[in-house]
This record gives sequence, structure tokens and C-alpha cells, in this order.
Amino acid sequence: MNIDLAFSPHELKKKDLQGRAVVVIDALRATSTMIVAFENGCAGFIPVSTEKEARERVASQRDPDLLLGGEREAIMIAGFDLGNSPRDYHPQKVREKVVVLTTTNGTRALLAARKAAEVFIGAFLNLSALSRHLEQVGRDVIIACAGDDDLFSLEDTVCGGAIMDHLEKAGVPLAKSDSAMAAKVLYEYYESDIYGMLTASKWGLYLERIGMGKDVRICAQIDSSGLVPVYREGKVFLVR
Ligand code: MLT
Repeated sequence: MNIDLAFSPHELKKKDLQGRAVVVIDALRATSTMIVAFENGCAGFIPVSTEKEARERVASQRDPDLLLGGEREAIMIAGFDLGNSPRDYHPQKVREKVVVLTTTNGTRALLAARKAAEVFIGAFLNLSALSRHLEQVGRDVIIACAGDDDLFSLEDTVCGGAIMDHLEKAGVPLAKSDSAMAAKVLYEYYESDIYGMLTASKWGLYLERIGMGKDVRICAQIDSSGLVPVYREGKVFLVR
């Protein structure tokens, strides 16, 4: 399997996605939050880029099962039903609901990946399930890190390296790009303390500073979920 990694949505846009499986990772917090939401019965997400688009989408559909979710600077957008904290997405709130979601980097990465053959949602929460799934799918893979305003982010890159580690430990031979090799080495460095890596990262420190440190703990729960959501035709959902 050929495996490549884009450090940001900007970099992903330069890659040939044809025939590839893309894994979108926003470990802090968008993709982790989606996985928690699905665990709590959420029916799906519609990622959009702007707050305006999200509001228009919900207003035009007049569907009581459609909620507005999203953040800017990690704070819930005023008037929205949900922010981007996994703790917002509890069963009473999201069961059987579809969330129109806009986040700073995570939804941008998803939108940048939409031309790939298949797109999956990845985080530390679903590492093993995701790696098994990629093995079955058997396509070449591009890990799409959401990054930080189109720049490198430590936590997404380390999570990408963790996927490679899982695949290799399962006996899948990987031909890695330079960025993929770098991600794998970073994962090996942080492997024994993923929570420590998350809390030391720029965004982890910021979340702690604004009182959302509990979210970092949730996003560090390796393999807490066996779900692998897909992004297809504009929607993130579970394939049963
Ligand atoms: C993003 O999309 O940039 C993040 O998920 C930000 C956050 O922590 O809410």
C-alpha cells in the first residue's frame, strides 16, 4: 500500500486524490467529536465552510432533525445548537439528528478531500478500527491532517503516524512518502504518552487555557470507538 500524508488542507489540494482513500484527521477536535457523536446516536454531519452557509442550509431545509454545530477559536458560534466539544454531543441532544457543521480546520479538510474515491474519519478514538478498515479497502491512502490554519499541527501528524504503525503491525507493507515517514517517526517518539503530546501541543494548551481541558482527555481515548464514519456525497455517516 502506498501511503502519503498532507500536513494541511492546502497541501491536500495539491495531491492527486483519484482512486485514493483519504483519512481526514482533526484529533483536536472535529473528527474526535464526530466519532463521539456517532457513538451517541447522531445520524450524520453535513460539513460546510462558513457560518453563513450553515445557517442558510438549516433555514432552507426547515427540518427539526437538523442542528447547527460549529466553532470559531474553539468557542460555539452564537445562536448555534452545538459547538465542537465532544461533550456537547450527548445522546439527548444528537440522537437521530443531522448536524450541519462548520469548524475552522476540520471541515475545511473534509471539503478538500471530497474528490477522493473514499473518505474516512480518523482520530485516536478509532485507530484500530480505522486501520483494519483501510486494510480491507486495499486502496492507496492519503492521510489528510486538518492542521492549524493551513500549517502543521503536531497532534494530527502523530495520529497519522499511529495509523501507519497499526497497519505495519498488522503486516501491511507500506511504501511511505517523505511526509508519511516523518509522521511515523513522530508517532514513535510520542507513542507512550499520547495524552501528554496532546496537552503539550499548541491547540491542546489553548483548549486547556479556555477551560476545555476535559475535551483533550476525551480526544486521547485511544480505541474507545469501533466506528469508522465515511464522508460521501456531502455527508458524513456510518455505513451499516
Ligand atoms: C478545527 O476544526 O479547527 C478544530 O476542531 C477546532 C476546535 O478545537 O474546535
